[in-house]
Amino acid sequence: MLLKEIKNIFHLELDAIYGKDEVNSFFYLLIEHYFDLERFVLAIQPGLLIDKRQETVIFQALSELKLEKPIQHIIGTSYFMDLEFKVNEHVLIPRPETEELVRWILDDVKDVKQSLTILDMGTGSGCIPISLDKNLTNAKVFGLDISADALKVAVENNRLLSANVNFFKADILSLDKETATKELDQKFDIIISNPPYVRELEKEEMHNNVIDHEPGLALFVPDEDPLKFYSAVVNFAADHLNEDGCLYLEINQYLGKETMNLLEESNFKTIELRKDMFGNDRMIKGIRK
Ligand SMILES: C[S@@+](CC[C@H](N)C(=O)[O-])C[C@H]1O[C@@H](n2cnc3c(N)ncnc32)[C@H](O)[C@@H]1O
Repeated sequence: MLLKEIKNIFHLELDAIYGKDEVNSFFYLLIEHYFDLERFVLAIQPGLLIDKRQETVIFQALSELKLEKPIQHIIGTSYFMDLEFKVNEHVLIPRPETEELVRWILDDVKDVKQSLTILDMGTGSGCIPISLDKNLTNAKVFGLDISADALKVAVENNRLLSANVNFFKADILSLDKETATKELDQKFDIIISNPPYVRELEKEEMHNNVIDHEPGLALFVPDEDPLKFYSAVVNFAADHLNEDGCLYLEINQYLGKETMNLLEESNFKTIELRKDMFGNDRMIKGIRK
C-alpha cells in the first residue's frame, strides 16, 4: 500500500477526534518510530510503498488512536528534558510543565560547587530525578514511589539512560512509619514533588485519553482533601531539608494560595509561586528556615 494512502486514512478516521494538525504529527511520529522514515519522505518519494508487515503495525496504531490511547503509550516512549523515557500505563506521561520545574532547579544550582543530596517524592517514570542526575555532576539523587510497577519503569529508565538515581518504595502518606527506610533517614539539600493533585471535580476538564489511560493513582485526590500529599511532603521537608535547603512543588493551578499557605505555616521562608508556560499557577519553591 502507498504510504500516502495510509496518511489519508489516518485523516479520514482521526481528524474528527484530534484535528488535522495533531493527526499529522501522530502520523509522522509513527512512521519515524516504526519505519525510521523522516517526515519529508512523502515530499521526495510520493510513490513510497510499505509492505504488509508494516501495514499491520501502523493500522494497529491507528486503531489504538481511535480508542484515544495516548501516542506515548502506543510507541512506549516520551521525551522529557531532551531524554527519551520509557512509559506505560503505570506511570504518568511526563509533562512539559514539569520540565519547567526541573529547569527552575537547574538554574538555581548552576553555580553551586558542593555536592547536593536530592529527593523526588512520587517519581513515576523517574523523569525528574533522572534528568537532574544527568544534568548535575555533583548530585546524589533519590526517587521514591508507592507503586512497584512505576518503580520498575523508573529503574529501567535509569539503566537505559545510564543515570545513577537510587529508587525505592515508600508511601508519602505514612512517612513517619517509613523513617526506618535508610534512604529517608538523612537530610537533603533539595526535595521535589509532583504528587497527585487533580480533584475528582476537575475530571470533566480532562481529555478521555488521560482519564482512561493514565494511572488514577498518579492523578487524583479526593475533593474534600486535595492537599493531602502536599501536607505530608511539606511536613517531611520541614524535618528533612538542611538549613536553606529548597522544596520545589508542582501544584494544582487552582490551589496556589492554599498550597503556599502550607509552606507559610511550616518552617519555610522566601516562598515563591510561578506560572507555567500556559499562564497557570503551577510551581512553588520554599527555602527551609
Ligand atoms: C503526578 S504523578 C508524577 C510522576 C512524575 N514525578 C512526573 O512528574 O511525571 C504522581 C506520582 O505519585 C505516586 N504516588 C501516588 N500516591 C503515592 C503515595 N502515597 N506515596 C508515594 N507515591 C505516590 C504515583 O504512583 C505517581 O507516580
